[in-house]
Amino acid sequence: MEKQKRKYSESFYNFTSLAGAVLAGVIFCIIILLILLDAFSPSETPYYGILTYIILPVFLIIGLVLIPMGALKERRRRQKGLKAQKLPKIDLNNPQHMRSVIFFVTGTCILALFTSLGTYRAFEFTESITFCGQVCHDVMKPEFTAYQNSPHARVSCVDCHVGHGAEWYVRSKLSGAYQVYSVLFNKYERPIPTPIHNLRPARETCEQCHWPQKFYGKKQKDRIHFMEDEQNTRWKYSLLLRIGGGSGRDVTKESSIHWHINNKVEYYASDDRRQTIPWVRFVDKNGFTHEFKSEDLGDEVPPASEIRTMDCIDCHNRPSHIYQYPQFTINTAMESGAISIDLPEIKSKSMEILQAIESDTTTEQGLKRIKEELTTFYEEDYPEINEEKKSQVDAAVLALQDIFQKNYFPEMRANWRNYPNNIGHISAPGCYRCHDGMHSTEDGKVISNDCNVCHLIVEQGNGEFMQSDINGVEFKHPEDIDEEWREEGCYSCHAE
Ligand code: HEC
Ligand code: HEC
Ligand code: HEC
Ligand code: HEC
Ligand code: HEC
Ligand code: HEC
Repeated sequence: MEKQKRKYSESFYNFTSLAGAVLAGVIFCIIILLILLDAFSPSETPYYGILTYIILPVFLIIGLVLIPMGALKERRRRQKGLKAQKLPKIDLNNPQHMRSVIFFVTGTCILALFTSLGTYRAFEFTESITFCGQVCHDVMKPEFTAYQNSPHARVSCVDCHVGHGAEWYVRSKLSGAYQVYSVLFNKYERPIPTPIHNLRPARETCEQCHWPQKFYGKKQKDRIHFMEDEQNTRWKYSLLLRIGGGSGRDVTKESSIHWHINNKVEYYASDDRRQTIPWVRFVDKNGFTHEFKSEDLGDEVPPASEIRTMDCIDCHNRPSHIYQYPQFTINTAMESGAISIDLPEIKSKSMEILQAIESDTTTEQGLKRIKEELTTFYEEDYPEINEEKKSQVDAAVLALQDIFQKNYFPEMRANWRNYPNNIGHISAPGCYRCHDGMHSTEDGKVISNDCNVCHLIVEQGNGEFMQSDINGVEFKHPEDIDEEWREEGCYSCHAE
């Protein structure tokens, strides 16, 4: 029989190239299948697709590389004068050949089907709680726990971290793959660095749900405090936060917090965490540029690449992973009754314990110390009360342990100090990074730190002494500290 002319160069007809081609073909089909599946039931976690976009393509490339490799080897063989590798000759008229072909084709199909089902299951597994529980639970535990206790507990991670559109989807897959690598090889930092420098611009994600035009008027916040005295004296602040400014069409002439997203405000932070901001610039509606500087800047000129335009994240940096500070959590637990205010000195003792174990090495040790220290304190200092109110002491221990578990993650070094919250100015500089009254332009204009620019205090006091006025009252500090609260930011004492 005359030798048929082959379609491709002779050297491609060898086992290695054939195996490569089959591998590449099968993997390609699986990838297409997975992309289709993902399109019809979009995934919830960023890890979905690591397989499709990272792991499988590696095998696809291996398959593709095998093809020319086999060809090259085959050519060398021939150049050396060796006999050409023979591929099996198949004759479908031969019943034995026919059976083999049917067997081979069905076998491959079944295998491919099971492989894709297997990979699909593996895929689902990466989304499961088991996967998170076992592979990256320790790493993500702080973010996950804080998230479950936040206003966004029902918003999925990807809504903020990925958002809509193909570009960020693919980017997230790539960084997701790197994250898996860094977890498997223990290459991650503790605490996980923040801010995330390549986070998608917040306005593209947050504004899917929050419509800036809706920011108007004022929002009331009531805060109940308890003093660190024997009776745990109660003190209340009621604030009206000026949350307007979202539309830029506010009819009132009052100042408004969301003014920043209608105006281009740029800043330069001299530290990685963006906590020290020595330079701010904004261009007003008349096109006039205001450049504010603080003493921290010195002779430094902000490098253009480091200048950032303010968006939601520059204030709402903890919309979801909120590690609360001890005053806040203890006050809240006391107000809700979880910690009884009938226990003398419970506020100051709780503060003392939480502050002491902040840097404890493990969660377990922390939990143990809370129990030991609180029970010993009442046994030794208040034996009668301890007997009479034993159940309240026990409840306080549980409440404090609960606070500790939800807000402190010693293994990952995650807590309110390492992840400061930029909203407000009590537990961290927050708004005072710019609004400290020390940022001024050359002609003496200062970024305001007037107490009424951002909110009105409409009620304050402890019951005996009570002030309320819808137009705002002057701030009174619950403890006599003279005029010190005017001179330094609240955080300089309260974040100690
Ligand atoms: C409401 C939006 C939102 C949701 C929902 C959300 N995150 Fe975040 N996440 C953020 C923001 C904002 C940051 C901080 C960005 C910054 O400061 O640059 C962040 C930061 C992080 C960080 C870096 C460490 C840190 O705390 O700064 C990790 C890790 C993280 N998120 C994981 C998750 C996981 C896992 C989920 C789902 C369980 C999730 N996030 C859900 C908005 C969100
Ligand atoms: C998928 C929708 C969704 C996305 C995306 C989203 N949020 Fe929210 N957000 C909500 C919902 C729903 C609430 C109301 C929760 C409630 O009232 O309990 C909320 C509440 C809030 C609140 C009020 C919290 C409070 O204490 O009452 C703030 C502030 C906020 N979001 C900021 C953000 C920021 C900043 C982002 C972007 C990083 C963001 N949100 C992204 C749905 C979303
Ligand atoms: C990066 C710097 C920066 C940060 C951080 C910052 N601001 Fe501002 N803010 C400015 C500048 C600049 C102005 C305009 C100054 C002026 O005109 O006096 C301003 C103006 C304001 C105004 C007046 C707006 C108006 O309608 O006239 C309010 C209210 C305000 N800020 C609230 C806040 C709050 C609340 C925070 C914290 C959650 C905050 N700012 C954080 C830079 C900042
Ligand atoms: C200058 C700082 C600053 C910027 C920038 C900023 N916010 Fe706010 N925002 C605040 C403060 C302060 C509050 C009131 C405190 C609170 O509710 O926790 C607030 C309140 C909110 C609320 C709750 C409103 C309500 O009616 O309860 C939402 C939602 C919100 N912001 C979303 C956003 C989004 C989305 C962006 C970006 C487009 C943004 N914010 C930009 C400071 C800011
Ligand atoms: C640049 C804006 C801004 C300025 C200026 C400002 N505050 Fe505030 N303040 C805030 C925001 C935002 C919060 C809300 C924080 C939160 O939601 O937890 C707050 C919260 C408070 C609270 C309630 C704290 C709590 O936990 O009970 C008090 C009290 C307060 N401020 C007093 C003052 C006083 C006094 C001044 C003047 C010396 C001042 N503020 C200046 C933005 C500002
Ligand atoms: C010079 C340091 C200092 C400054 C500045 C300061 N405080 Fe205090 N603050 C104290 C001390 C000391 C106490 C008493 C501790 C206690 O009994 O709880 C206290 C107690 C409080 C309490 C009651 C306890 C709690 O946290 O529940 C509140 C509320 C409070 N301060 C708010 C503020 C606010 C708001 C500002 C800024 C406008 C401020 N403080 C500035 C030192 C300071």
